[in-house]
Amino acid sequence: MDRRSAQKEISQLRREINKHDRLYYALARPEISDGEYDGLMRRLSELEKQHPDLVAPDSPTQRVAGAPLPGFAQVKHPAPMLSLDNTYNEEDLREFDQRVGKGLAGQSYRYVVELKIDGVAVSLLYRNGLLEYGATRGDGAKGDDISANLKTIRSIPLSIHAANAGIPELEVRGEVYLSKNEFIRLNDIKQQEGQAVFANPRNAAAGSLKQLDPRAVAQRKLSIFVHGMGSLPGKLDRHYQAMKFLKNLGFKVNPNIELCQDISQVIDYCNQWEQKRDALDYEIDGMVIKVDSYAQQKQLGATSHSPRWAIAYKFPARQAVTVLRSVEFSLGRTGVVTPVANLEPVQLSGSVVSRATLHNDDELKRKDLHYGDTVIIEKAGEIIPQVVRVLVEKRDKKARPVVMPQDCPACHTPLKRLEGEVAWRCENVSCPAQVKGRIEHFASRGAMDIDGLGPAVVELLVAQELIQDFGDLYDLQKTALLPLERMGEKSADNLIAAIEKSKGNPFRRVIYSLGIIHVGTRAARELANRFEDMDSLAAAGCEEISKIYGLGPAVGQSVENFFRNPQNLKVLEKLKRSGVRMKSESSVKSGGILSGMTVVLTGGLEGYTREQAAELIISQGGAVSSSVSKKTSLVVAGSDPGSKMLKAEKLGVKIIDEKEFTKMVKHL
Ligand code: IVH
Repeated sequence: MDRRSAQKEISQLRREINKHDRLYYALARPEISDGEYDGLMRRLSELEKQHPDLVAPDSPTQRVAGAPLPGFAQVKHPAPMLSLDNTYNEEDLREFDQRVGKGLAGQSYRYVVELKIDGVAVSLLYRNGLLEYGATRGDGAKGDDISANLKTIRSIPLSIHAANAGIPELEVRGEVYLSKNEFIRLNDIKQQEGQAVFANPRNAAAGSLKQLDPRAVAQRKLSIFVHGMGSLPGKLDRHYQAMKFLKNLGFKVNPNIELCQDISQVIDYCNQWEQKRDALDYEIDGMVIKVDSYAQQKQLGATSHSPRWAIAYKFPARQAVTVLRSVEFSLGRTGVVTPVANLEPVQLSGSVVSRATLHNDDELKRKDLHYGDTVIIEKAGEIIPQVVRVLVEKRDKKARPVVMPQDCPACHTPLKRLEGEVAWRCENVSCPAQVKGRIEHFASRGAMDIDGLGPAVVELLVAQELIQDFGDLYDLQKTALLPLERMGEKSADNLIAAIEKSKGNPFRRVIYSLGIIHVGTRAARELANRFEDMDSLAAAGCEEISKIYGLGPAVGQSVENFFRNPQNLKVLEKLKRSGVRMKSESSVKSGGILSGMTVVLTGGLEGYTREQAAELIISQGGAVSSSVSKKTSLVVAGSDPGSKMLKAEKLGVKIIDEKEFTKMVKHL
């Protein structure tokens, strides 16, 4: 492709990707599937590779472009990053209001009340619309330049509309955080890898931003809520209005923000959120109350430590006291042994808790846990209960300490602690607990999705030695199933049929189902896009995989390790022999019916999800685009197709309905 057309397509792709980043990450209103998005990203990165001189600092591909850094440089904040004073009850809040009232001597004033996001404070400096750097708060005067890491966060715009901003320099401040779900996912991986887990989402966000390898940070799926500016741009005179302004510039602003006429309204709003905080997908540790008018903020001023125009209202920590009854040592699919506390059931933020994770051996020792101890528990990420500390003064003199077992609780192989890990592992790959864990994952939703193969059935199959790994599932006979507990004719037939059906699952699902550490659904899809078949994936080394867009060294190493293990190769051989799909769909149908065509999907489809339809198009050699242009070859219009269809009609692009689409891709 010549340089001019490449340039044109590159800017179109960048615009489109930025638009979808904003829709997905800032507004939570995605319009295209992950598969379509990845397609756009891949195309952009291909074109930029062919024309390196066209790479721009604010191109979406530059979010994860950096190599590991030797350390962080320091930056001086244009204006000091202050902290907030805390209040803990209604009375404190009323006192704050009185101080504000006094300071403003008779003027009327309003407050803006926001959620206090429990994350890491950062400052983002935009010069002439381009993100120049991003930094931590540090000591308030100087912070670490963590630009490379912050650029991996897709809700942080790399550039803002400079003309629109009309401000040559804009310092935006906000809170980087990790959602509760991501926190759980991250700790799950850490646990399986034998690494120390994070105590809460804030520590996880802080730990992630401190990493020197931006590619590793990109895996963490951090996000941001912006909540203010370093210095006040001339044309804005109220905070509430400034938040709208920032939102319009493309920043992610928390939608739960309230303009209050007086302190009673403030207190009401705080109380509401104290009740509702569990419904959020991220942690808040309180509320922030700010005087709305910038002129009044200025008048009130600040101490060296915190502004007089704002205050934090902190929620009480939600903890409970209970007693440790016993400890169970549970085994995951990677052989890591996790101590789990059985507790005297106790009410904690809306549920009864009777189990809590104790993480690992180091944590057991650090807490000096003894059987029968009275303990304080808390929910990490408000979801997973954990023991925070022991009330030693309540301990019985004869209490025995909790220690890790020396042998695997499932197969009695001596446990090992590997160099650089905190976990004790059972290294016996045939250990029944691990075998069960791997099969459960293989059969689970999002993996091979085998109906009727839940933990209870897996337990029976392994215990009866009918299967030793998930490769054996495909040799199961109905006659072998019938003697199993609660397995009638019908359920045996259904199970065999579900196993059979799973052979046709897409290649990316097969990759995901293998349970390779770090390879979640998204990484699996990237791998399936990049490699024709399992053999070429197995042959690719860590380096080749690390370079794939969106993957990193941790994925690369983990994939390489997986395919080096002869036991895994044996299981793969079984899958191959039984006819499980080991090839990418697109390679199966090269020269497909949509070869070279750009297809746009619009409106609701009945028979497919967006993702499935996109996959079909790709498998037939087509590319999926999210907007109609002269280059569009075909528009598939479902129900309520909207503006894309109108545009297609205007441009004379061919439009087909779902029925015709099905006929086409399925060769009916
Ligand atoms: S405004 C002068 N708004 O809480 C400081 N801060 O404990 C103005 N935080 O350092 C900060 N959510 O990092 C503000 N909606 C919000 C916030 C928020 C979280 C953090 C911020 C600040 C810390 C103070």
